[in-house]
Amino acid sequence: MDRLIIQGGTTLRGELRASGAKNSALMMFPAALLADEPVTISNVPHLRDITTMIELLGSLGVEVVIDEKMNVEIHANTIKQFRAPYDLVKTMRASFNVLGPMLAHYGHAEVSLPGGCAIGPRPVDQHLRGLAALGAQIEMDDGYVKARVQGRLKGAHIFFDVSTVGGTEHIMMTATLAEGETVLENCAREPEIIDLADCLNAMGAQVSGAGTDTITIQGVESLHGASHRVIADRVEAGTYLIAAAATGGRIRMRDANPDHLEVLITKLREAGAEIETGENWIELDMHGERPKAVSLVTAPYPAFPTDLQAQIIALDCIAEGTGTIKETIFENRFMHVHEMNRMGARIRLEGNNTTAIVEGVRKLKGAPVMANDLRASVSLVIAGLIAEGTTVVDRIYHIDRGYEQVEEKLKNLGANIQRVAEP
Ligand code: UD1
Repeated sequence: MDRLIIQGGTTLRGELRASGAKNSALMMFPAALLADEPVTISNVPHLRDITTMIELLGSLGVEVVIDEKMNVEIHANTIKQFRAPYDLVKTMRASFNVLGPMLAHYGHAEVSLPGGCAIGPRPVDQHLRGLAALGAQIEMDDGYVKARVQGRLKGAHIFFDVSTVGGTEHIMMTATLAEGETVLENCAREPEIIDLADCLNAMGAQVSGAGTDTITIQGVESLHGASHRVIADRVEAGTYLIAAAATGGRIRMRDANPDHLEVLITKLREAGAEIETGENWIELDMHGERPKAVSLVTAPYPAFPTDLQAQIIALDCIAEGTGTIKETIFENRFMHVHEMNRMGARIRLEGNNTTAIVEGVRKLKGAPVMANDLRASVSLVIAGLIAEGTTVVDRIYHIDRGYEQVEEKLKNLGANIQRVAEP
């Protein structure tokens, strides 16, 4: 298992390009199962989560062709199996979303209940309720969801009880092949949902309203092939912006959409960063200053993303003043806090572990650390960058799930970081 060794104290400076959005790209694979012809996805990031999804489709017998530029061509009509096994679904929650498309296209599917990051209970009740409303007969058997339908699914009016990104995407794509109209209410509004709707529409679907809380789908009988380019990864871009701000640095993110990072940009300006933006770039300059502490509450888009919470806590650790960070999306998403405290941070958890109070200190001290989730792991890399001495971040396979070439990108910005294989 690899680890990252970081000598802290460097200031990040330079230019880098945001990769394609992991969370968007991941959903295009299940979506491609709806089509009768090959679907080509470009700007796919080279990540472990993507490899897991490709393996999952491979286990269904689906042919996936990848070229050297990570253009991925998916041939759904080569499917041979309709059962997604536990050992692949458990490692990544997004893989659960193959259930609806297989069901809608082929009339039956079996998918293991999902796993994913260890961040609290993450049920799929909204997914299952949505599929049932579209006419699926659902049975639970030994950890597997077995779904069937006679003929086509039927359009329905569905109201989500919680704002769920994966649930909205799952039911939106499944409904494209249902008979008649589906109206989804209280939908999540993340940019990745718009990206998926664009991909589905390129395949001949009729989806409107993605990005608002009401999405309408006019079902069609079949979907055809298409090519679609994935949007930029706002979480990756946001992570590097926070890292640069925490080190007092200056970076220019290319191929990033500032409209998708409005709240983060506001928060980083509050922290003292000078930020300029263009259509597809963001430039941040801290002028070597220590950041000022920021406070925030995570909530569904367009509010502050839970996926950038851990990184902001890293910044608050060495900021001037005290920041209050409240997590409202996931329970148990503060594992990084204990590791940061071992590095000399002063963070306490309150409100039944829903709120972190971060009292800024001038310096962190390097230490061996590790985390069990993707964003927590990368936040420890940021902590390592701003710490004195050496930090060793263990279990970095979590980072490889969601950050493409993390150490190369950071090295290009001047970080002293290297990957070593664990003895
Ligand atoms: C997606 C993102 C993830 C991000 C999260 C929240 C992908 C691949 N992953 O995850 O990076 O952290 O959105 O922005 O896009 N819930 C239910 N019942 C359900 C579904 C969800 O109660 O059926 C709850 C969850 O437990 C959680 C909240 O709803 O508390 C939000 O989860 P959801 O938006 O579904 O997250 P994911 O789609 O899994």
